[in-house]
Amino acid sequence: MSDLREAAMAVRMNAHAPYSNFKVGAALRGASGTIYRGCNVENVAYPEGTCAEAGAIAAMVAAGETSFTEGYVVAGSPLPVTPCGGCRQKLAEFGAGDVVVTMATVEGVEEAMSISALLPGAFDSSFLGR
Ligand code: THU
Repeated sequence: MSDLREAAMAVRMNAHAPYSNFKVGAALRGASGTIYRGCNVENVAYPEGTCAEAGAIAAMVAAGETSFTEGYVVAGSPLPVTPCGGCRQKLAEFGAGDVVVTMATVEGVEEAMSISALLPGAFDSSFLGR
């Protein structure tokens, strides 16, 4: 098992998902090589819940890193879990277009996609120029 998969599988066990019963784990390899993890954290006020990817990004930024070179997301879904639209935009903030995110099932089925394939036509800082 790759170190990223191992990290994502382990943190998934800590997911707080009593409402969906859908536990997700995410792991990002920061540019330094350090692995950051996140799990989904749901809330009784449903919109206040956060995705696993957002948790991993928050851990990375809190540790002082702002870019990652590889990502891994795992869930107990029948097919490899794909990040939601909001998380694709969040991942694109810190990962270059050619950075690969591997999506996986608990059983080990994997599908890999680049960030630019996950978010074609991304809104990026170039649009902010006037
Ligand atoms: N979820 C994630 O954490 N990441 C994904 O990529 C897909 C969905 C979470 C949000 C919610 O807690 C649960 O999965 C069901 O949507």
